[in-house]
Amino acid sequence: MARHLITSALPYINGIKHLGNMVGSMLPADVYSRYLRQRGHDVLYICATDEHGTPAELAAKERGLPVDVFCGQAHDAQKAVYDGFALAFDYFGRSSSAQNREITQHFARKLHENGFIEERSIRQVYSPADGRFLPDRYVEGTCPHCGYDKARGDQCENCTRVLDPTDLINPRSAISGSTDLEVRETKHLFLLQSKLESEVREWVARHDKDWPQLASSIAHKWLTEGLHDRAITRDLDWGVPVPADTWPELAAEGKVFYVWFDAPIEYIGATKEWSDQDPENRDWKSWWYEADQGENPVRYTEFMAKDNVPFHTVMFPATELGIREPWKMVDYVKAFNWLTYYGGKFSTSQKRGVFTDQALEILPADYWRYFLIANAPESDDSSFTWEHFTATVNKDLADTLGNFVNRVLSFSKKRFGDEVPVGGTPGEAETRLGEQIAELLAEYEGHMESLQFRKAAAALRALWSAGNSYLEEKAPWLQIKTDKDAAALTLRTAMNLIHLYAVVSEPLIPATAKAMREAFALGDDTAAWVTADEAKSLTSVPSGTAFTVPPVLFAKLTDEDLDNYKTRFGGQEQ
Ligand code: MF3
Ligand code: ZN
Repeated sequence: MARHLITSALPYINGIKHLGNMVGSMLPADVYSRYLRQRGHDVLYICATDEHGTPAELAAKERGLPVDVFCGQAHDAQKAVYDGFALAFDYFGRSSSAQNREITQHFARKLHENGFIEERSIRQVYSPADGRFLPDRYVEGTCPHCGYDKARGDQCENCTRVLDPTDLINPRSAISGSTDLEVRETKHLFLLQSKLESEVREWVARHDKDWPQLASSIAHKWLTEGLHDRAITRDLDWGVPVPADTWPELAAEGKVFYVWFDAPIEYIGATKEWSDQDPENRDWKSWWYEADQGENPVRYTEFMAKDNVPFHTVMFPATELGIREPWKMVDYVKAFNWLTYYGGKFSTSQKRGVFTDQALEILPADYWRYFLIANAPESDDSSFTWEHFTATVNKDLADTLGNFVNRVLSFSKKRFGDEVPVGGTPGEAETRLGEQIAELLAEYEGHMESLQFRKAAAALRALWSAGNSYLEEKAPWLQIKTDKDAAALTLRTAMNLIHLYAVVSEPLIPATAKAMREAFALGDDTAAWVTADEAKSLTSVPSGTAFTVPPVLFAKLTDEDLDNYKTRFGGQEQ
């Protein structure tokens, strides 16, 4: 049987992420992992914080903390939010780990041995006041084209022209404001991607056929522009050091690898972090090295937002191909468009939109998980509005699912006591219901297997609705007046639906699903998936099984709630 390796793009260490980040990578990866686990697959879901680079250094400086201390705290803060969202990583690592350093250095040595790395001298802006070279975007000045006075050294935000820092008029350091800048010659390692271009092209052609259109079109766009050699080192303190055994001179100058070089390698690094915690039982290498071979080949699925696609479909594959060792490469790239906030940008820097920590202050994770998956920006961007969110919660979660569960269990308890009622023989209505449920379940499974999250959520909602229709049709509150057995049959069948919902809803709303399963005192109950036969017969929960009525599963959101949310977060695009 195949093993499933799953990764979601590594969130950058700076700042808490917004809902758009969540729905574009980690959440769908978690839903898919949970689904596969329930179906009995061997799954490894790996993620980590992406910790290196200048923004982390500057954020640490702003807080007056050493950068490693800052990253440690920021990692823990992000992890706490992801726990709150019930993201069931097998491991959530850190790209600053010793494991990632070791593997990144190994990859660089191999690329060098194979002739894909070259030392080149470049001219770069140096700031004596800051005691460092400045990355292009940390040089600010006046745009020579439009006169905008806050243009960055890589691009002018005002006229969008691409710039070189030396183009700027009156350049200054964005870090200290110092205008005492000089251009110095400095050596860097360049990855000769141009030499790997045709191999990457062939690799993409062999793999992108079943990728979503979004991923393959971005990959092709980048290939059309051609693969250029790129600098993979930087003059920073915080990063994976260039190995001294291979480049003594650069190592002595304190060069580190560029953050985008070591970040994707951390997918492997984090797997080793996981493995090193329990080496007797975990074998990181079997997931990554020669993993296409053997009895349990690995199928590797990556999740990311569209801005990350070039790195994962072109750049990182080039690195892996250049190593000339059999490291696992991605099989399926699940890419997402943007979730917008009232049609505008969610923005971390401008604090617009809903951040993941704030979301959890307002409502439990399942509300968000369901809404986000049901509206995942798959074929196009999709928009978050409070109106849409509250309406979806009320209709799908509170009415269609929550109310069904509560109505059935409370009514049965009132009329038949604390056990699933005995009596009645399934008839034509139950047969029809069973067939319908089996069909919808197959549809849901199909969408999950093909990673169509919106469609999967729609199929799940249809499963919930089918229960409501059955209940309305049979009307046990009327049956009870004339035929107690008939009412017992209806309620027992509905309780079996509740149990089936509990199992199949688990990937999207795990906490609620657990509460629903635990309503029934089934000794060895697990979340193991439902077979088509079970769906058809709806008899997994036999009469006589003790049950309890769980507290209301989803609170209805009021107009007042809606107003409060809009006031707190702003309802319109600003
Ligand atoms: N940190 C990057 C971002 O937030 C994503 C890195 S993905 C990895 O956009 F593959 F490089 F790890
Ligand atoms: Zn300009």
